Amino acid sequence: SEELQVAIDGPASAGKSTVAKLVAKKFKYVYCDTGAMYRAITLAAMQAKVALDDDAAVTNIAQATVITFKPGNRVQQVFIGQQDITQAIRKPEVTNNVSTVAAIKDVRTEMVKQQRVIASHGGIVMDGRDIGTTVLPNAQVKIFLVASAHERAVRRYNENIKKGIETPLVQLQKEIEIRDKKDSTRAVSPLKQAEDAVLVDTTSLSIDQVVKKISTIIMKIQ
Ligand code: C5P
Repeated sequence: SEELQVAIDGPASAGKSTVAKLVAKKFKYVYCDTGAMYRAITLAAMQAKVALDDDAAVTNIAQATVITFKPGNRVQQVFIGQQDITQAIRKPEVTNNVSTVAAIKDVRTEMVKQQRVIASHGGIVMDGRDIGTTVLPNAQVKIFLVASAHERAVRRYNENIKKGIETPLVQLQKEIEIRDKKDSTRAVSPLKQAEDAVLVDTTSLSIDQVVKKISTIIMKIQ
């Protein structure tokens, strides 16, 4: 069987990473979370106290930062050099600033270059916003995962409660909508369904049902 490239794109909190991880495990593929890469650059820029609207300075950071992934027990760990940033990149300060950094053209050029290297041998499930449209336009499997903004906010709310964080549901929904708007309206590779992507609406589907749907698509092509 062939080692495919599987691209999973969609708006914030649609369940991309959960599903992508499970699909990767099932097919013994590598999972790459490209959102974590933009989050890592955002964190590095904030730690360096660089203004996030200073495109040239943020680009320098993107080009100088070495991001690596390590498979962990439960979550994939993310590093900048030796620094474990797995938790730090999920903090609200990073989440609410990442779309500004991800809109910088030369930051994207650098990330896309690294992502293509990671995906070059196939056997990869990559999730993000522009994987099917820009990073891997020839991916054999392209999924566009969506869910209603309300359902996505509820999922994020429940995840937060498990972690002991209590943010009001309305605030979470608002933050999700703001991020989606920034990501879909930026000039460089905005969030958009690729013409040849399969639309999967997960609003009323379980994780298991979504994984099965995507697995069926992969097995047909393999
Ligand atoms: O997937 P996640 O929500 O962690 O992504 C964080 C942010 O990174 C997105 O809101 C978007 O601004 C940016 N991103 C991107 N292109 C990707 C993946 C993420 O612009 N391929």
